[in-house]
Amino acid sequence: MKSIYLLISLLIFVCPAQASSDRAVGDFALIDHQGVFHQLSNYSDHQAVVLYSYGSECDVSSGAVDKLSFLRDKYEGRDIAFLMIDAIPEETRAGVAESLSQHRNDIPVLMDTSQLVSYSLSVDRTGEALVIDPKRMQLLYRGAIDSRAVAAIKNSNDSISRNYLDEVLSAVTLNGPEVLDVQWEGGQSIPFAEIATDTPVAYASEVVPILEQRCVSCHRDGGVAPWSMNSHQMVSGWSEMMRETLLTLRMPPGQIDDAYLDKFTDVHAISDSEKRTLVRWIDSGAAMDGQDDPLTELEAQSSGWALGEPDLIVEFPRQEIPATGVLDYKFVPVEIGLDRDRWVRAYAFDIGDTSVLHHVVAYTQDAKQQKQNRSGGGSRTNFGGYAPGRDYVEFDENTGVLLEEDMRFMVQFHYTTVGRPVEDVTRIGLYFQDEAPEFPLSRTAVMNGEFVIPPGDSDFDVIARATIEKDSYLYNIAPHMHYRGKRVKYWAEYPDGSREDLLSIPNFQHNWQMVYRLKQPKLLPAGTVIVSEGAFDNSLKNPLNPDPSQEVRWGDQVWDEMFIAWMRVSEIN
Ligand code: HEC
Repeated sequence: MKSIYLLISLLIFVCPAQASSDRAVGDFALIDHQGVFHQLSNYSDHQAVVLYSYGSECDVSSGAVDKLSFLRDKYEGRDIAFLMIDAIPEETRAGVAESLSQHRNDIPVLMDTSQLVSYSLSVDRTGEALVIDPKRMQLLYRGAIDSRAVAAIKNSNDSISRNYLDEVLSAVTLNGPEVLDVQWEGGQSIPFAEIATDTPVAYASEVVPILEQRCVSCHRDGGVAPWSMNSHQMVSGWSEMMRETLLTLRMPPGQIDDAYLDKFTDVHAISDSEKRTLVRWIDSGAAMDGQDDPLTELEAQSSGWALGEPDLIVEFPRQEIPATGVLDYKFVPVEIGLDRDRWVRAYAFDIGDTSVLHHVVAYTQDAKQQKQNRSGGGSRTNFGGYAPGRDYVEFDENTGVLLEEDMRFMVQFHYTTVGRPVEDVTRIGLYFQDEAPEFPLSRTAVMNGEFVIPPGDSDFDVIARATIEKDSYLYNIAPHMHYRGKRVKYWAEYPDGSREDLLSIPNFQHNWQMVYRLKQPKLLPAGTVIVSEGAFDNSLKNPLNPDPSQEVRWGDQVWDEMFIAWMRVSEIN
């Protein structure tokens, strides 16, 4: 008996797995059933990632959850990440949470709503386990969790019981021999009708309209992106990279959690079916159909003004940026030149040189503030700023911001050096309305300035609260963190004790400081508390982190941190 067992295990262990090119795994990112962002490459400090294909109505999956939790406990402290992935169409986060409630489970279920990740990994059944080496991005194992699961579907009663997944993990952690894939045919088949179709994707009529709607506003000549989608040749040349940015949720930038999409307007997003269309087109060779290339007919951005010609353009004085060095924030007073009080309905920035201008904030100073003449810009009121992704802000109808005749701007510039001297002339465009709006806007903020982020911490939680003093409408939220910002969400705690989630940015990226504008202004009764909960990544894993060995606190410079969100509100009289 013993010798047979040895022989079988030798056979199974000794044969090398398939050629390594078949075993390559592309990076991907997904949001889990609790709204948390996961990216495979973020687990590069782990020895292995277990990815289990879950279905909330699949008995095999349900049976496996406890086994996975058991293994997770067993390998605690051994740098093995346990994840599940759900690609069954129509399954919801709530449904998944409900199905897991009978288990002692804290393994996240990644919601593969576009199915693109599962499809790319050839995971077409629930119940299959993948073990991935996240450093080399290679598949170490795929197949059944254990022999009992296989026996159950084959109705066989093999006397030798094998715990494949456990064996793989012990091989990984003990540098043991490889375990061969064990084909999995059980579970529930995942219908890939939306992806695995033979119908070709038409470039001109299907692909281009998606690019126009989702990408071209930035990826055009004169746009903020570094390359233009101005021909089929360009797009097909960049297609593999496009695929990666879509699968890692990096483009379009500044994405919010899908669950909040219908509450916001003007946000950068792309739907699952649009993503599928683009990826299917890329995977089938990114070819062009017909003679005409509609992308070549796109016009370059004719002026820097996203909202058309402004009523008043205020040009900021030319700034000379040296080739090297760290530059302090610079404050420059600028006359606005109004002949009377004006109500602003929108503003936009036309940036001179985006390679050096990190951000600019236009503050206002009334006559009294101007006289105070303090250092560092002095007493001032934040009017509006530019940061990448935030070129313009348009206020809701019936709202606006008052600029008084005697006000001037106090402009704060933050430049970074790029190795050559650069000159920058930036302008702000103001759009006025004649009537005083029904809901004049003011700004408030939710912030915490007291945090101390320990060196190396990859998920340091921070919470902030702000109480709304008078009945108000909330119009937009502009989160702000620096290089180490990782995620942030907002909710309202109402005076009656109820709570409402407002917004979540599960993968905050410092490069993109967006203003998130609500479709409908949100009524916040006096006494409402706005809570903001977020995290910083001060570890080596964060590619933007300038120095993981530093303890980090609140500060102006980007290597310091901030935890703040500005909100435009209007108090109801
Ligand atoms: C809000 C502006 C904006 C939109 C919308 C946008 N991009 Fe980008 N894109 C950028 C910028 C800026 C970069 C340069 C890298 C960066 O800053 O993240 C970039 C870079 C890229 C890159 C190169 C990747 C790299 O590593 O630099 C690809 C590919 C790309 N975008 C694809 C897309 C696709 C596909 C869409 C639409 C689905 C899209 N982008 C929408 C601004 C945008």
